Amino acid sequence: MNKRQYDIKDPTLASAGKLRIEWASREMPVVGLIRERFSAEKPFRGLRISACLHITTETANLALALKAGGADLVLCASNPLSTQDEAAAALVAYGIATNAIRGEDEKTYYKHINTALDHKPHLTVDDGADLVTTLHTKRSQLISNIIGGTEETTTGVIRLRSLARAGRLKYPIIAVNDAQTKYLFDNRYGTGQSTIDGITRATNILWAGKKVVVCGYGWCGHGIALRARGLGAQVIVTEVAPTRALEAVMDGFQVMPLTEAAKIGDVFITITGNKNVIAKSHLEVMKDGAILANSGHFNVEIDIPALEGLARAKRPIRANVDEYSLKDGRRLYLLAEGRLINLAAAEGHPANVMDMSFANQALCLEYIAKNRGKLEPRVYPVPEEIDKQVAQMKLESMGVTIDSLTPAQKKYLTSWQEGT
Ligand code: NAI
Repeated sequence: MNKRQYDIKDPTLASAGKLRIEWASREMPVVGLIRERFSAEKPFRGLRISACLHITTETANLALALKAGGADLVLCASNPLSTQDEAAAALVAYGIATNAIRGEDEKTYYKHINTALDHKPHLTVDDGADLVTTLHTKRSQLISNIIGGTEETTTGVIRLRSLARAGRLKYPIIAVNDAQTKYLFDNRYGTGQSTIDGITRATNILWAGKKVVVCGYGWCGHGIALRARGLGAQVIVTEVAPTRALEAVMDGFQVMPLTEAAKIGDVFITITGNKNVIAKSHLEVMKDGAILANSGHFNVEIDIPALEGLARAKRPIRANVDEYSLKDGRRLYLLAEGRLINLAAAEGHPANVMDMSFANQALCLEYIAKNRGKLEPRVYPVPEEIDKQVAQMKLESMGVTIDSLTPAQKKYLTSWQEGT
């Protein structure tokens, strides 16, 4: 591999990374089966893929499946703080050009995205839509080559739908996030467990008895609230959508405006995909010692400039924890610079749920390659057959079998004649 095609922290981390990738593969049987099939069928022969994803051991397993399928693949990070340097080094050792260094600054982050685009992709894989946005705004001359792409997360899908609404999306993209086998598991159980894991690793707090404020009761918020309660926390949910708020109430959580919750919370977790959710007015009334964490895609959910403005001093007090001493004497603790806490302070989602998300990614990329020229430049849902197939394969890998409809039941469920 040409050295200009990759940029990682330290190639000597490769052997440690390979072991970790192997460990993750134990929990990714569906991606493993897809990799075997791809290896025989080579659906990506002759195709170049540029993928902007969190550079983790799970992503490495997806990358190896795509490579086995014949893809010429380049990777870059989808977040400056989520890269596992060992995984990046191992990927390069496996012959996959990877551009990602944990803690890279914004300039390097975009340099890496541009290196991935220099690959002149036929297919793109994105997580948060930074690669696709760069492509549409600064590298549009590359778009004529592109067959299609996929998007991994809620925030990316929102940005792409907005691009499509403005009539500016130039090629078809499948919203992998919106597959049931993605958001019901990855967003809920994956983000739920790993967010709590990240905050625990960063702080070592005891959750039992803490007042935990979860801002946003989407699929990720569901998981975080559920797991925090499971550890004995008193969970308060804040929302702006009436239905989601009602669901939180009936799920047994306290629901109130953030202006009230701000005064009583011990730990605040934003998970909305929105900006300035925790604003200056909230920071002004928080208790001394309150902990602030974000698990949403971008580091804009907590108004960090406002926090900086209120502070007279700031010091790192332990890894991933910054203490802000405010002018009025209170101290607030911001975790991982407001970046996704589960990836910055822990290892992101467990491999077992990424198995389903990345099975969707792999099968959707294959679908796009097979349907070359047939798709329009818009945001497509994951084909239902793929979603069902992933669920079926996952069940099989777990040794779970289920019932099937009898012919009479099938008929009944598609007819209107039978009543009481
Ligand atoms: P979602 O759209 O299902 O839920 C977001 C919720 O936040 C909605 O119910 C919305 O009404 C609420 N909300 C919006 N503004 C709010 C405000 N100002 N105050 C309170 N609530 C507000 O989205 P989902 O799937 O739960 O994702 C949330 C974010 O997490 C996105 O940025 C997504 O990309 C990201 N994400 C992060 C992951 C991670 O590994 N940390 C994994 C998956 C998604």
